[in-house]
Amino acid sequence: MTLELDTILIERDGSILVATINRPKALNALNEAVLNDLETLADQVAKDTELRCLVLTGAGKAFVAGADIAAMADMSAEAAENFSKAGHRVFRKLEALNIPVVAAVNGFALGGGCELALACDVIFASTKAKFGQPEVNLGLIPGFGGCVRLPRKVGLGAASEWIFSGDIYSASQAETIGLVQRICEPEELLATAKAFGTTVASRGPIAVKVAKQVMQKGLDMSLDDACTLEQSSFGTIFNSEDVREGTRAFVEKRSPEFKGS
Ligand code: CAA
Repeated sequence: MTLELDTILIERDGSILVATINRPKALNALNEAVLNDLETLADQVAKDTELRCLVLTGAGKAFVAGADIAAMADMSAEAAENFSKAGHRVFRKLEALNIPVVAAVNGFALGGGCELALACDVIFASTKAKFGQPEVNLGLIPGFGGCVRLPRKVGLGAASEWIFSGDIYSASQAETIGLVQRICEPEELLATAKAFGTTVASRGPIAVKVAKQVMQKGLDMSLDDACTLEQSSFGTIFNSEDVREGTRAFVEKRSPEFKGS
């Protein structure tokens, strides 16, 4: 995949793609141009069968400081609903990718930025990261999935505290409620995210894909339906060569060579 985007820098390292949102003058705020580029990125990544992990980060002192407030100032109700629909569509595409997506949160992840991180599978944060859903300070509500994904990820109590207060929280506070998986020194953040990608790349790609699908779909099902989905998926995956390779490699005391088939 060769991809050039106006607002996102792309760097490929083998099977890992690092995408850096690059609109630092506005702290990488999400306007139409950035959302369009994120959508193109998601569409291209979905087509690239060689990729095993996508890392999202931000240029400068922000991951993403939210939806673009200046662009929202004069929006009609109809335009705002359409803006929200666009954000939801793009974030859902990123969330639905067959490979893990890591948010490497280098700085401010506020409003739409926190919501972008929430649409990723795991969140690694620098000690300088700041999180929050400050929309109520502006008289509005989270519009790119915060009211939906934050309670699912951290529970209704913590999500209510964050969303009703509009306060800004440190990386360690975000880790305490289970939003952040790892905290790193700023200079180690990308290396840590890439190392995770390298680990994932060494595992069975179909297994990683199916595990992601079962976890995501299972969360919206009853316990019994989710268990049934896991059972059928566990069976289906035994049609793959990778299962034979992985189990044989263990028995033969060697490293597996997964082909993703
Ligand atoms: N939209 C547009 N521009 C933004 C922005 C945003 N969300 N956040 C920051 N900027 C701009 C600032 O206006 C400023 O531009 P100028 O230099 O032209 O004045 C530039 O980025 C740098 O910002 P600051 O000077 O404010 O930097 P700071 O270090 O003093 O403060 C900050 C950093 C605390 C993150 C502060 O910028 C801030 O509070 N930003 C807004 C955060 C926010 O409310 N986000 C939620 C947006 S609403 C939303 O996201 C809705 C939704 O769910 C869809």
